[in-house]
Amino acid sequence: MDKKLEKSLNDQLNFELYSSYIYLSMQSYLKSLDLNGFANWMDVQVKEELTHVLKFYDFLHNRNAEVEFEAVSKPQHKWDSPLAVFEHALKHEKIVSKRINDLVDLATKVGDHATVNFLQWFVGEQVEEEANVVSVIRQIKLVGKSLFMLDRELGQRVFTPPATPQA
Ligand code: FEO
Repeated sequence: MDKKLEKSLNDQLNFELYSSYIYLSMQSYLKSLDLNGFANWMDVQVKEELTHVLKFYDFLHNRNAEVEFEAVSKPQHKWDSPLAVFEHALKHEKIVSKRINDLVDLATKVGDHATVNFLQWFVGEQVEEEANVVSVIRQIKLVGKSLFMLDRELGQRVFTPPATPQA
């Protein structure tokens, strides 16, 4: 595998770990407010991010490339409100989407079709990730909908592992 691409895929694996970490920090903040439904939503997010880490991990191994873990940066741990948490989450997901797009560009440039194909799952996933967060932001902003009712709704979110493991 092209060395620059191998390094960039490792960077993304580590960024997905950071994503899991910052969402765990957000979950902890929401839990401290006794918003257990919000915390449940974020718990699912943490688990999804870990599946993203493992997808990169498996792919790199399957391609006989090196996996190198980095130190994970300290995440923010306090926010002004649940709305501020989800606005931060949206900003974070937009960064992830940009990083995935840049990875596709690089894999295309070096002619690595297998990596381009692997990354397509993430291209689709990012559309969903951003839409999910936008939906929560819109709901929080809805006048007349109490935080209590929304907390109960977000408590219904269930973690479902991806159906087909990515090679
Ligand atoms: Fe793994 Fe939320 O991007």
